[in-house]
Amino acid sequence: MDDETDEPIPEYQDALAAFHQAFGDELRELIRALPIAQGNRVIDLACGDGRYAAWLADRVGPRGEAVAVDLSGSYLDLARRVVRDHGAGGRVSFVEADALRVPFPDGAFDLAWCARSLRSLPDAAEVLREMARLVRPGGAVAVLEEDALHHLILPWPEDLELALRQAELETLAEQLGQPRSYYAGRRLPQLAREAGLDRVTVSTRAIDRWAPLAKPERAFIDLELAALRDRVVSHIDPEMRAIFDRLVDPGSDAYLPARPDFTMTCIERVVVGHRPGS
Ligand SMILES: C[S@@+](CC[C@H](N)C(=O)[O-])C[C@H]1O[C@@H](n2cnc3c(N)ncnc32)[C@H](O)[C@@H]1O
Repeated sequence: MDDETDEPIPEYQDALAAFHQAFGDELRELIRALPIAQGNRVIDLACGDGRYAAWLADRVGPRGEAVAVDLSGSYLDLARRVVRDHGAGGRVSFVEADALRVPFPDGAFDLAWCARSLRSLPDAAEVLREMARLVRPGGAVAVLEEDALHHLILPWPEDLELALRQAELETLAEQLGQPRSYYAGRRLPQLAREAGLDRVTVSTRAIDRWAPLAKPERAFIDLELAALRDRVVSHIDPEMRAIFDRLVDPGSDAYLPARPDFTMTCIERVVVGHRPGS
């Protein structure tokens, strides 16, 4: 049972879970491509629901170990359940800690992983430095992070898409003071080098889906469009708003994902860097 004093799991978890379900095969391929050997020790920072920790545990095998770290006890409870249901219970341990101050010595891991969390964490550069500290010389730091502007390609009318992007930027600037953390994906190679990592590589995967959508894909896009609507609604002019509203209202006969020619392309980017040495 969750600790009653702990923060509840944030609302965005529904969208994350839908993302994991809709694109699970491709996300597992990204994990399979990481430089991990059987018997390795890996750490997942800001592990959330534990989905990636479970997949990382598959990679390290029975002689290896994955450590899942999160600041939220509620999230760690959920992660324990997800990992157990995946059958990886014995290979993952869970630590409640701040991703900027992880209670492990320098070089304790072969690989440090962090997925889609840079906008939740206070300072992306500091996270990268902490990840670099945690891996041994020659070990790898791997970050999965989207760039909000390029994450999801949808068949919007072109002028509406430009208006949406502008509105989104304005809202984020208001809410976050500066929207850069939302677009951290594009700065990752630079942040990796500034954290002292070398042999930095970028690997981008475009994942296509088209109508008719499977149930998890439809759940994913429904939540994405609802969140987008919340972000832009107050900054879009009335004419564009009328077009937008019809396209994102699931009750409308113009609902974008229900169109027979609907397509969506999800762009995922993994940046890997290595701690110098061997
Ligand atoms: C957007 S979620 C991503 C979770 C997971 N990596 C995924 O991709 O599904 C962000 C996560 O960061 C965690 N978090 C936020 N601030 C943190 C901090 N300072 N240290 C560790 N975890 C933190 C949240 O509890 C949440 O689990």
